[in-house]
Amino acid sequence: MRNQEVIDRLEAGGYLEREEWAALLADFDESDRLYAAQKAVATANRYFGNRIYIRGLIEFTSYCKNDCYYCGLRRSNTRAARYRLTEEEILTCCETGYGLGFRTFVLQGGEDGGFSDERLCALIGAIKERWPDCALTLSVGEREADVYRRFYAAGADRYLLRHETADAAHYGRLHPPEMSPDHRIACLDTLKAIGYQTGCGFMVGSPGQTPETLAADMMLIGKLHPHMVGIGPFLPHKDTPFGRERAGSCELTLFLISLVRIMEKNVLLPATTALGTALPGGREAGILAGANVVMPNLSPAGIREKYALYDGKKCTGAEAAEGIDGLRERLRRLGYEVVSGRGDWKECK
Ligand code: 5AD
Repeated sequence: MRNQEVIDRLEAGGYLEREEWAALLADFDESDRLYAAQKAVATANRYFGNRIYIRGLIEFTSYCKNDCYYCGLRRSNTRAARYRLTEEEILTCCETGYGLGFRTFVLQGGEDGGFSDERLCALIGAIKERWPDCALTLSVGEREADVYRRFYAAGADRYLLRHETADAAHYGRLHPPEMSPDHRIACLDTLKAIGYQTGCGFMVGSPGQTPETLAADMMLIGKLHPHMVGIGPFLPHKDTPFGRERAGSCELTLFLISLVRIMEKNVLLPATTALGTALPGGREAGILAGANVVMPNLSPAGIREKYALYDGKKCTGAEAAEGIDGLRERLRRLGYEVVSGRGDWKECK
């Protein structure tokens, strides 16, 4: 009951203290989770009706100069398969995606020095010139403010940069010393100030995460008011320092998705690939917890398994862009309609 009263307060726009968040996340049961899910679905319905937005995810480079302890693409992983798509290959992905009904393309890649800022700007321009009715989202990590501005000027509309954890000590457990949580947050502030629809997010169950660090994540979201929030379970990758760690909880992931929806109302909230990988029917479960976005994989089929952030990452069926009709049908049976269209963030009414 205590938990459900806290959820009611969150729904009414109330502010939760860090201790209240931590207590809620440390000790909730199935009935609390379903209580939150029901409120989250009602909230999503109020702002988006039964519409689900789709984004085509193009994983255009697997090179990365960073060495995050959780990620299979970290530079120290000498076993990682590295590739970099050509401009032509990327445009072909967009063409395929456009035909399948996608009107948002997400260019995601590691922080790859081999793909210069100039090249990326030219690519952004080429995509927007050819498909002016589409939105373009970038997810290419931390860059200088000036570079973010140039990408925006070239036509990028949105930017995804997960903050990973809002707790500085926890950030230090997940990243090597050369990376800084303050810089990550500064990047998010900059992106928002430039005018990007901006997304943050975090993994659930990453090593060292506690109810208190999760409380900090929720409070960061409440303060930043991002346009999008990506949340998925941590899943180990065998060739990383966290290869023998346990995977994050899907129940907790779903609970957090619901709480973000209840708190941030009109935020764009994907049912992530990690959730789809960790849980059969995970995409559907995410939507039934309050998510309203799915991001199927639009990368060329031959390279998908190389973009291995974690072991077993799904890239077929509901996770694949060409499987969109199957996903559409499964969501239709749940009462949802997958819509074609940019699906921009909109101001609360
Ligand atoms: N498990 C789950 N998610 C991961 N990511 C990276 N590695 C993993 C992993 N092992 C997520 C990070 C990153 C996004 C692109 O993928 O949150 O921001």
